[in-house]
Amino acid sequence: MSVQISPSILNCDFGHLADELEKISNADYVHFDVMDNHFVPNLSFGVPLLEKVVENTSVPVDAHLMIEDPDTWAPQYAEAGAASVTFHAEACKAPLRLARELRKMGARAGIALKPATDIIPYVDILNEFDMVLIMTVEPGFGGQSFIESMMPKVERTREAIDKYGLDVSLQVDGGISRATIEKAARAGATNFVAGSAVFRAEDAYAEVDTLRKLAQEAC
Ligand code: DX5
Ligand code: ZN
Repeated sequence: MSVQISPSILNCDFGHLADELEKISNADYVHFDVMDNHFVPNLSFGVPLLEKVVENTSVPVDAHLMIEDPDTWAPQYAEAGAASVTFHAEACKAPLRLARELRKMGARAGIALKPATDIIPYVDILNEFDMVLIMTVEPGFGGQSFIESMMPKVERTREAIDKYGLDVSLQVDGGISRATIEKAARAGATNFVAGSAVFRAEDAYAEVDTLRKLAQEAC
């Protein structure tokens, strides 16, 4: 199983964006957390910064939209150069229509589930997506603790993907570190978002490699 590491730049040093991106040039994706202070109680950044990130790295950008009304806003992130656009199931009025629109624009489409949202209602539409994101914290902030009780949901999602032979990547986001990544990998995740674990490490580049190795060995 190929493992992907997606460092979240939510808490990086934006005064030195190009340097921060250079530190994670070995990552598989740059995870870009968009928050609107409505869907989550925090405000981050949007399309203009995404354009700057895309300009300053050759690593594909994975936009995670924690926003209301992704039906209206998500296509702008594909347009601005995100390789992958993930929106929340809880916020989306027409997930199938939006996934098709994003894919038509050339982006990968992802669907994200908050901790209290089950995967079962979405199993039948997973084939319309390139990625499913199982949140391992309540979305809104970096630096929170990994919720281990999400592992059965990760396992159920992995079972559904394998049962139907789907080409869907399984991402986990929140509290992923050296201490937790193996648990998530054993449960069936293949794409790991890590914010504080990477950017608080002394050597972010080495941390990306370490996390990838730990996940690969646990898969
Ligand atoms: C949380 C965001 C995460 C966050 C991860 O709502 O979606 O991507 O930045 O940060 P850590 O790895 O510190 O939990
Ligand atoms: Zn995220």
